[in-house]
Amino acid sequence: MTARIIGTGSAVPEQIVTNEDLSKIVETSDEWISSRSGIKERRVAKEETTTSLAILAGKRALENAGVTAEEIEVIIVATCTPDYFFPNTACQVQEAISAKHAVAFDLSAACSGFLFALSTAQAYIKGGIYQKALIVGAETMSKMIDWSDRSTCVLFGDGAGAAVVSAEETGVLELVQKSNGAGKGVLSCKARETRNLLNHESETKEYLYMEGQPVFKFAVKTVPECVEEVLKKAEVKKEEIRYYILHQANSRIIQSVAKRLKEPEEKFPMNLSLYGNTSAASIPILLDEMNRNGMLNRGDKLVLSGFGAGLTWGAVLLEW
Ligand code: ACO
Repeated sequence: MTARIIGTGSAVPEQIVTNEDLSKIVETSDEWISSRSGIKERRVAKEETTTSLAILAGKRALENAGVTAEEIEVIIVATCTPDYFFPNTACQVQEAISAKHAVAFDLSAACSGFLFALSTAQAYIKGGIYQKALIVGAETMSKMIDWSDRSTCVLFGDGAGAAVVSAEETGVLELVQKSNGAGKGVLSCKARETRNLLNHESETKEYLYMEGQPVFKFAVKTVPECVEEVLKKAEVKKEEIRYYILHQANSRIIQSVAKRLKEPEEKFPMNLSLYGNTSAASIPILLDEMNRNGMLNRGDKLVLSGFGAGLTWGAVLLEW
């Protein structure tokens, strides 16, 4: 048996923040942001939280799959922006949707999070441990951003995407997952420092830090490599792939990956102009959009690929 995605859902905050809006708070312009990244606007949470977005996306995925919450045996929420250190986000989703029989935990792999959650679900299903999983990528990146840092605040957005995964004859065909802790310095966000009775002096700046160019280079090198690797392992040719659904960080990264793979850009759908980089949520939000727009037919071969802080990256080849 293998993991098959049988339903998708997504949720984004109501509030739209355009490039024009940002140009009023930092020295930037729509021209700079859209030409460097392809982003035109993003959603920013006001009332919404990582948890509320995860719950809504999860409910929509269950509805879309025609599966009840009671059937779900494991919930994995991929997030690097949880609302609590504990309890984890997944337990809060479990309670909200009444998934009484599910074990629930979060997974931290930044922008690769959804891919890693799908890979974990695949391992459970292949091992015969669970048959039905709800996997979610949910983020409120806006709370990690220094809104006076124009080099990062223009790039990220908030949202959540989810998928119901079921043990079936076809689905995930092959996967690769990679990590390189030595690359931690180019993309990070520090957690709260130890402030106890022995050490109460520390003052951490708990904001996202990114060196744009090394991250860009990392992405355009590793994504084509792991896509090639997953195809080779499965003995599937590029011509057989209907779509490459990549983490939506930057249109120039995606175009460059397409070029390196010698594949037409039309096979690389994008929605980042509307949402910016939503980290672990970007792949499932796009997948849900494609699913609901009727772009996906059963039997289509898709490659999903994510990359992000850690460094972490990976690719999953699946049959829809
Ligand atoms: N508006 C106007 N000017 C800006 C802005 C801005 N928002 N941000 C930076 N600049 C300026 C810089 O200060 C710099 O000015 P200087 O030359 O006077 O010093 C100039 O623009 C060029 O800056 P660079 O950083 O060299 O610009 P670059 O062409 O590399 O583009 C970008 C920056 C868009 C961040 C690019 O490097 C990139 O896309 N990197 C990958 C980022 C990414 O995808 N991260 C997420 C992936 S992983 C994950 O999702 C967590």
